[in-house]
Amino acid sequence: MSFPEGFLWGAATAAHQVEGGNVNSDFWALEHQSGSMFAEPSGDACDHYRLFRQDIAMLAELGLDAYRFSIEWARVEPAPGRYSRSALAHYGEVLQACRDHGITPMVTMHHFSNPRWLTELGGWEDQDTPGRFAAYCGTVLGELGSLIPYVCTINEANIGQIIRRLIAAGEGRNLHREAVVGLADDRATMAAGTEASVARPQRPKGIFLFTFSDEGHDLICRAHTLAREGIRQASPGTKVGITLALQDVQAQPGGEKEADEIWAGQFTDFLPALDGDDFVGVQNYSRIVVGPDGEIPAAAMGGELTQMGYEFYPQALEGVLRRAASAGLPLFVTENGIATADDTQRTEFVRLALGGVARALADGIDVRGYFYWSALDNFEWMLGYRPTFGLVAVDRATQRRTAKDSARYLGGVARRNALP
Ligand code: BGC
Repeated sequence: MSFPEGFLWGAATAAHQVEGGNVNSDFWALEHQSGSMFAEPSGDACDHYRLFRQDIAMLAELGLDAYRFSIEWARVEPAPGRYSRSALAHYGEVLQACRDHGITPMVTMHHFSNPRWLTELGGWEDQDTPGRFAAYCGTVLGELGSLIPYVCTINEANIGQIIRRLIAAGEGRNLHREAVVGLADDRATMAAGTEASVARPQRPKGIFLFTFSDEGHDLICRAHTLAREGIRQASPGTKVGITLALQDVQAQPGGEKEADEIWAGQFTDFLPALDGDDFVGVQNYSRIVVGPDGEIPAAAMGGELTQMGYEFYPQALEGVLRRAASAGLPLFVTENGIATADDTQRTEFVRLALGGVARALADGIDVRGYFYWSALDNFEWMLGYRPTFGLVAVDRATQRRTAKDSARYLGGVARRNALP
């Protein structure tokens, strides 16, 4: 099973999860307050801000030819309208390192973390945020666009809508979902100018990308379309897209209507904003099965569960690619992966997921690349460093990297551009 020529083979990271010392971001502030939702603070993370050259070299040695990473807004624009030449130069060096190693970069402009000042000004509920975001994107692309072939504006722009549905359905019991809601609430409190409270209010306001309101949805879509304009003006050669968290929504008899609604909230509602994009970034980790009484918990499906509590179901990627093709745009798998301590299980996950990509391609679906999440074991947000998604293990006491067998497996597939 071979892949089209030029198919990109990569791994992904996000700035706050790997760089370390992201002190000007809202996440850093939230991690350090009393009663924090976070299992532990991000601290030095994987010290990727210092070690990016060796990390990029390692990806190339493994056989990969692409790297998706994010630029940290809080570093580039540490105060409203004040840009850091030093931070811009840093990301220029990261991009140059990619070029030196034959790695195609895909850059995300916003991956969950905000500059602290942005959240204090109201974050993703403030009407000026789309304009501020577009200005930041335009500035970065104006400086660095010649080194950036692909840009994702906003990572998982739909995540707030997913959480919103779960709240509405009264399915707030899942620990991870509760943490997300709590974090959104903490951000709202931060924007209101007080320390986030330990006791969580009943009704989350939800300042995050995890915005829970219709206005928030519109704001995010506007931020994306404005940013796309700013990017195109600054760097006409750069291809622009967004990334969406897409679960493979499967209906059992009686669950069809709700399944359709869930898919609409994840995907269809975003189609107007995607009109004019160059690609869609598909991010998938598992499936949702909906029966007559609503979503069936992963644990009740009888299969293995990952460290995140998701069902081990790598076949989900194929289902999602087939449905996302309805956007009529080229697709990139911008994230797909598994949190597991068992690396054999990771290899199996990737092997099965890629089988699905190959079948989708064989049916004419335009998939242009696959980025495994994640390159490194890293800071899994509220869950801290416990879940291990990485192709490469990181000893955080020494920052020593050790490639896992799954990394060699994916690198081998990349080199052959074919599944064994
Ligand atoms: C996010 C990543 C996260 C991963 C695993 C995605 O939702 O983009 O930042 O680490 O899932 O949970």
